[in-house]
Amino acid sequence: MTTCHVVFLPFIGYGHMIPMADMAVLFASHGVKTTIITTPSTAHRLTKSIQKTINYTHQIELHIIEFNTGEAGLPPVSDNPDQIDSDELLSTLIQALPTLQEPFEQFIAKSQPNCIIADMFFPWTTETAAKFNIPRIVFNGTGFFALCASHETMTLHKPNASSDSEPFIVPNIPHEIKLTRKQLPRLESEGFKVFLKVFIQSVEAEAKSYGVIVNSFYELEPEYVRHYREVIKRKAWHIGPVSICNKNVEGKLERGKKSTIDEHECLKWLKSKPSGSVIYISFGSIVKVSRSQLYEIATALEACNENFIWVIRNDEETLIPEGFEARIAAKEKGLIIKGWAPQMLILDHESVGGFMTHCGWNSVLEGVLGGVVMVAWPVMAEQFYNAKLVTDVLRIGVSIGDVEWNPASLCDGVKRASIERAVATVMGAQEGDAMRLRAQGLKEKAKGAVEEGGSSYLDLNAFVENVKSFKSKA
Ligand SMILES: *[C@@H]1O[C@H](CO)[C@@H](O)[C@H](O)[C@H]1NC(C)=O
Ligand SMILES: *[C@@H]1O[C@H](CO)[C@@H](O)[C@H](O)[C@H]1NC(C)=O
Ligand SMILES: *[C@@H]1O[C@H](CO)[C@@H](O)[C@H](O)[C@H]1NC(C)=O
Repeated sequence: MTTCHVVFLPFIGYGHMIPMADMAVLFASHGVKTTIITTPSTAHRLTKSIQKTINYTHQIELHIIEFNTGEAGLPPVSDNPDQIDSDELLSTLIQALPTLQEPFEQFIAKSQPNCIIADMFFPWTTETAAKFNIPRIVFNGTGFFALCASHETMTLHKPNASSDSEPFIVPNIPHEIKLTRKQLPRLESEGFKVFLKVFIQSVEAEAKSYGVIVNSFYELEPEYVRHYREVIKRKAWHIGPVSICNKNVEGKLERGKKSTIDEHECLKWLKSKPSGSVIYISFGSIVKVSRSQLYEIATALEACNENFIWVIRNDEETLIPEGFEARIAAKEKGLIIKGWAPQMLILDHESVGGFMTHCGWNSVLEGVLGGVVMVAWPVMAEQFYNAKLVTDVLRIGVSIGDVEWNPASLCDGVKRASIERAVATVMGAQEGDAMRLRAQGLKEKAKGAVEEGGSSYLDLNAFVENVKSFKSKA
């Protein structure tokens, strides 16, 4: 049996890079030869992934390529994900990505892999793949529900609603899902400008590429796996949740950045709390929370008197209300983590029962793996679709209420009363318990999917067979 060689090209941004690195570990665990292509300042973020494959037939290999911004007449670029914290830097980075095409193609010419799995932000890899007669697979970072719902919504030239806040029904999909126009990405907005060009190119390239690889599992959204394959007619493979490759505490910890809290301290705190009693609040690595919103969250948390872990960004530290930290510390009710939290470790802990989340896809999957009930608080990107999956399809969470798509990734405008109500529902009996039961069921299915013989395990093997036979046909 010949070995299959898969080349991964991740985007430099934790939300995309972490799942792709986990994906490479998963492929390596199936005996596949894997190479991750990366840039100089990002490479060190991937060494932990390589270590995870130390006992496999083929360890992950790393191949570093460099930007050639000078020749392209572009400003120098930072490719360290920790430093890309403004639209301006992100915009420079996105513009510089095509300068990677040449060194990338040199590598492909030399190593002749079976396929390329490239992030959606590299639309030109579809061209590369055609040149070398190998398949290019897109990694988009979202699930099947969002892929289907956004596809069907985009087919509407104008959603059938008389105003931006009147609900319309997403057409053609298996569930009745209501959205409003103000929850959809506003492609014309200022904040979206940096993405618009690459976004359009990505969508075009996606349609021309061989297929899509999805970090999801069949049992989570079976109707949408089928809809995507059979109705939208795209080749797609589900191989997730890929974060399962992080089996031990160490693996769960060292993802992306180093945590800013000592894990022992965090685990000790969690252990002191009763099972299912803690709500974990995090809006991911990109969303910013306004000062007034932080205030509303803080007062809601004090009022509802539940145990909580709240992750805030380093730059939000000065915005939390005065005296808040001291009061919650005195009552031993809450833990505030400033910066990067060991999210998987927390969500996996049995003391955690609820998760207030922006519904980024990685967070939704980690919530599912933790078997927790969610408060869905989407802010931007495809998070509004993910939120609908959680609340209306899976019924393992409640909506925070009427929020709208924010081009600046700013979380804002939700009042204390709505937050209190949502927290009380997910942490409470009645509705909360029914959702918890469903969430626990999904957690078991998620684990089973990646185990030998599970749906994701089998689809990964099917993927490998498929791309291998592509090569032999050529
Ligand atoms: C590799 O195998 C050794 C020996 O069995 C074991 O001690 C080690 O933990 C394994 N490493 C990983 C990353 O699984
Ligand atoms: C649009 O909405 C109106 C009023 O709700 C409804 O009567 C009509 O059937 C809808 N049209 C489509 C194409 O869904
Ligand atoms: C990625 O998925 C989102 C939905 O989750 C969709 O809106 C977008 O068009 C997709 N992008 C590409 C390039 O496929």
